[in-house]
Amino acid sequence: MQRRDFLFSSLAAAGAAAALNPARAAGRERVRIALIGTGMRGQVLLQELVRRDDVEVAALCDIDPFMLNRALGQVAKAGKPKPRTVGEDGDAQAWRKLLDASKIDGVIIATPWELHAQMAIAAMEAKVTVGCEVVAGVTLQDHWDVLNTQLKTGTPYMLLENVCYRRDVMAVLQMVRAGLFGELVHMQGGYQHDLRAVKFNAGVPGKAYGGGVEFGPKGWSEARWRTEHSVRRNGELYPSHGIGPCAMYANIHRGNRFTHINAFATKARGLHGYVEAQGGKSHPNAAVKFALGDVVTTTLACENGETIILQHDTSLPRPYSLGFRVQGTKGLWMDVNKSLHVEGISPPHQWEPFQPYQDKFEHPLWKKYAATAASAGHGGMDFFVIHSFIEALKASAPMPIDIFDAVAWSAITPLSEQSIASGFKTLEFPDFTGGLWKTRKPIFAFDDRY
Ligand SMILES: NC(=O)c1ccc[n+]([C@@H]2O[C@H](COP(=O)([O-])OP(=O)(O)OC[C@H]3O[C@@H](n4cnc5c(N)ncnc54)[C@H](O)[C@@H]3O)[C@@H](O)[C@H]2O)c1
Repeated sequence: MQRRDFLFSSLAAAGAAAALNPARAAGRERVRIALIGTGMRGQVLLQELVRRDDVEVAALCDIDPFMLNRALGQVAKAGKPKPRTVGEDGDAQAWRKLLDASKIDGVIIATPWELHAQMAIAAMEAKVTVGCEVVAGVTLQDHWDVLNTQLKTGTPYMLLENVCYRRDVMAVLQMVRAGLFGELVHMQGGYQHDLRAVKFNAGVPGKAYGGGVEFGPKGWSEARWRTEHSVRRNGELYPSHGIGPCAMYANIHRGNRFTHINAFATKARGLHGYVEAQGGKSHPNAAVKFALGDVVTTTLACENGETIILQHDTSLPRPYSLGFRVQGTKGLWMDVNKSLHVEGISPPHQWEPFQPYQDKFEHPLWKKYAATAASAGHGGMDFFVIHSFIEALKASAPMPIDIFDAVAWSAITPLSEQSIASGFKTLEFPDFTGGLWKTRKPIFAFDDRY
């Protein structure tokens, strides 16, 4: 499609969607939100929704009555009206009943990864704005399908990537924009989180972490579905926490883009070792072969000459760290040692503590909402990701983490799998924007609104 035609059809579709959806047409004070998937993550997001006066939690959906009841308890505790519920009968398609733009303005999807694309596509087709938990789809085709549906319908879509809102990450965004590190050259990030006790448990409702080595139908919460991805897939399975902030620093899709990708994977030892150590060598799951390498290293090249390295490291003992490094011609920041170095300011060849810089470059959003965010999940960033989604929806403003960000960040997974499967080949990265990256301008977090 020619760019002009594409823009025209997007704008036309957006107009049609606004006509159907009063919240978007008028710029409303209050929006009606449905939540599909009231599991461990859905409940954290729900906590952010129920404490807002500008949100009516209109409907909840989950096929696990235990999870659904917990969510209903949260709404009641907050003193909010009981939402409509569907799915308690175990109907895996019940979520479709909620996607009615005359009853809800937006839907938040917090289900297993393999359901995100189909749920987002159906919602966008129903003109219901989508806030989708990290991971836009599983296969590369899923990502194209999600993108094409968004372009066809014009329904807003935001990837709910919360790490972009982390306090230090946002302060570094200010530093990058102020030129503190000079011209950006290289970035690193990743998902380095020992998930062994998340991927295995005893399948007891309410006990999500550890206590057993079951997964699949015998597991509970993420052990029920996430572990299966480690059995079948070898790649960068969770890219957005690492790539999201780096992509914002590098203005990806706004004057820059990913051009190439390759990935390497180590041998797989951690998950098998955990099952043997916790469940014994004779446990049936000790015979399971895991495809996922313990450490997967992905490299991306960018149009403007930067490289970005992501590391996925979830099967070995290690403290949590996303391993950020942002490096330019004048200096660098690394989050593991909470320090930075800036030539001409820092003592030569020495690290300086990050905290005074964080205070000086505090992002306007954090300046305004730090106290409100204090009780939210993940050190406050979960407040901001929901806040931005709701504020953008109310204002009919572009989503701060939009469809191009969502599909490019998330498509790193199938592309990294493809690279590893083909002997670590370097692949060309698809241009999901169809050339629009050349003229689009950065919009993420330029003020204290969203
Ligand atoms: N951004 C973050 O920091 C963060 C943190 C944790 C999880 N997540 C993401 O959130 C999502 C959910 O993860 P989780 O930890 O809550 O997992 P979970 O297993 O605890 O919750 C998923 C819920 O989806 C429900 N579900 C499954 N199939 C369904 C269907 N057909 N219809 C309705 N509900 C269905 C399950 O019953 C379950 O309650 C995943 O994408 C995960 O990667 C993000």
